[in-house]
Amino acid sequence: MAEIVITIDGPAGVGKTTVAKILAKKLGFKYFDTGAMYRALALAAQEKGITAEQTALLQKLAGELPLTFNQKENTFKVFLNDRDISELIRHPQIGMLASTISQIKEVREVFWEKQRKLAKEAQRAIFEGRDMGSIVFPDAPVKFFLTASSEIRAKRRLKQLKGLGKDVSYKEIYSSILQRDKQDSKRVIAPMQPAQDAIIIDTSNLGIENVINLMYKHISNKLEDL
Ligand code: DC
Repeated sequence: MAEIVITIDGPAGVGKTTVAKILAKKLGFKYFDTGAMYRALALAAQEKGITAEQTALLQKLAGELPLTFNQKENTFKVFLNDRDISELIRHPQIGMLASTISQIKEVREVFWEKQRKLAKEAQRAIFEGRDMGSIVFPDAPVKFFLTASSEIRAKRRLKQLKGLGKDVSYKEIYSSILQRDKQDSKRVIAPMQPAQDAIIIDTSNLGIENVINLMYKHISNKLEDL
């Protein structure tokens, strides 16, 4: 059985996670949130007092990170050893630190290898992130790049975090989104950008259902040809 990976890239708060999870369920594919890897590393580094400048220590930590994903029917949980960190890593400060350490080439190389290994094991998988289609899985048969205005993305993220009981303001989220957009798209190594053959979807004025239907149509057409 040949490996089939579907990639979904795009900026923070664009709705990648929501659509990726629904599509994975619909298709019977595994789902991987690669942002959670960078976030888990940021959390582990913060707890160990390792700063973003300590490249060698971060590279080592990334390689040894006891990170596991637990995917069930409707949930996707992230564990460090047996500690559930799924909610902890959602804090905007951790997102910012994740964005900063994701600029380190050595860290990315460790994670790229892990991501390709996960795909091999899963055989059928949806990977969401920033560089899935452009760098990690250049041969993926279907690649998406989702976009939406920064205001809409900040509103969506605020709703999600409030739902998790986090005490955050629109202003805080909006400025963190702008800063991360800039940092993620301007970095030297693997900047966030659509792969040349990515299908770009602006979700600003589309409901989840519409986005899913559109993506599902593209996937069905493509997979039929494989
Ligand atoms: O998708 P997210 O917001 O959870 O990602 C957090 C940060 O991790 C993001 O700002 C940049 C980094 N990231 C990355 O560089 N490459 C990926 N494939 C996924 C995330």
